[in-house]
Amino acid sequence: MTINRLKPTVIDRERLAALRQSEDVAFRDRTPKSAAAHERARAHMPNGVPMTWMAGLWRTPPIYIDSGAGPYFTDIDGNRYLDFNLCDLSMTVGYGNAVVAEASDRQARRGATFLAPTEDASVVSEHLAARMRLAFWQYTLSASDSNTEVIRIARFITRRPKIVIFGGHYHGHIEETLVRDDHGRTVAETAGLSPGSAAHTIILPFNDLDALARVLAVGDVALVLTEPAMTNCNVILPDPGFHEGMRALTRRHGTLLCIDEAHTFQFAYGGLSREWALEPDFIVLGKGLGSGIAFSMYGMSEAVALSVSANLDGDAGPRGIALGGTTYGSALALAVARAMLEDIMTPVAHARLNELGRRLADGLEAAFQHRALPWTAFRCGPRSGYCLAPVLPRTGDEGYQSLDIELIDARRVYMANRGIWDAVASAGPQASIAHTEADVDRYLTTSGEFLDAIL
Ligand SMILES: Cc1ncc(COP(=O)(O)O)c(C=O)c1O
Repeated sequence: MTINRLKPTVIDRERLAALRQSEDVAFRDRTPKSAAAHERARAHMPNGVPMTWMAGLWRTPPIYIDSGAGPYFTDIDGNRYLDFNLCDLSMTVGYGNAVVAEASDRQARRGATFLAPTEDASVVSEHLAARMRLAFWQYTLSASDSNTEVIRIARFITRRPKIVIFGGHYHGHIEETLVRDDHGRTVAETAGLSPGSAAHTIILPFNDLDALARVLAVGDVALVLTEPAMTNCNVILPDPGFHEGMRALTRRHGTLLCIDEAHTFQFAYGGLSREWALEPDFIVLGKGLGSGIAFSMYGMSEAVALSVSANLDGDAGPRGIALGGTTYGSALALAVARAMLEDIMTPVAHARLNELGRRLADGLEAAFQHRALPWTAFRCGPRSGYCLAPVLPRTGDEGYQSLDIELIDARRVYMANRGIWDAVASAGPQASIAHTEADVDRYLTTSGEFLDAIL
């Protein structure tokens, strides 16, 4: 199936550029204090931000934040935004959530970290084992860290060098996965990576079991690392049978399988792995479970856990698999994780989130139809988005065709000027636990007004 590139026929580029220009002026007019804060910050932080990514994500000058409450945050100029990006899904509970605040405050007062376990670690691991159906768990600070450790463990167990990932991937700032396909050759995607860091990564098209079978048959692949549905190039859903086929092939060829649910654990109770009855060797969860507190975790099968236990990297003993970091698995992170699992990410909360997601996707589809746009809406749990074609993509390459940066950036700044913070370019708007139906409807109204302004 080929997806038409419909953009040139549908969107008047000159009109879009003119709108972008006037909205940029309005954005700057609304944010003088942020502009001054940026000037000051440039003196001591590259690009004037604490993490340069913050300056690269948005094609508007950075705004500096005062505070947030529920689904809203307010910048230092007093502009209030209804957030549909949720810090790239790390704030799914909304800002200033009372349960998270209480758990983190209580634990910070009792000691944030000890380099020794608290009992919350057992409780959280029990909850995760029951919910995610993998028996053993380890904790890190970010999904990048978790994926790094999973790759390391898989290489150790299989004694093989290579990993397979799929086009449209993002698995964090890891040398092996910051790569792209260049006419069948894997090359580094970003600067500053070790020479040869791309050499052991194979990139295949998502949903292509034949290609996977050919590559795994060589016998040198330690791990297949994939999201259950790809969510960093819009949304690519698996074909029926793709996951079953991938599991059968990986088992047949002695390759381990990791499902990276850094985003998608929020898309269903127990993540898409539970929803779709997947049977991976590892599952990675990230984004602080949507709490905003830095932590991530990965589950593993009993067989993998046996190997990890037997190959401890002791400080004074034999060297084993290098896992862990000083503040990984901290008392603070585990106290928040416990609160998240027990009190917030409940089946009822997930059902409500999915309802809001459905409302968002239905509303976008109705808006496209109303304007005779041959587009459709992405939909995966609470996540939606703008698919600029009548059929949904099946591969990363097809998914990227809806990444029309000119359109996305114009929409973002238009929406921001009307008090709505839209998603990063590679994602779509997503509902949070803090949103109401009225919030979703407000998003839809403003996005419809944007479409009217450019058509
Ligand atoms: C699927 C997936 N894996 C891993 C990561 C990396 O997460 P982090 O930035 O917390 O390391 C991301 C981040 O967006 C992601 O989407």
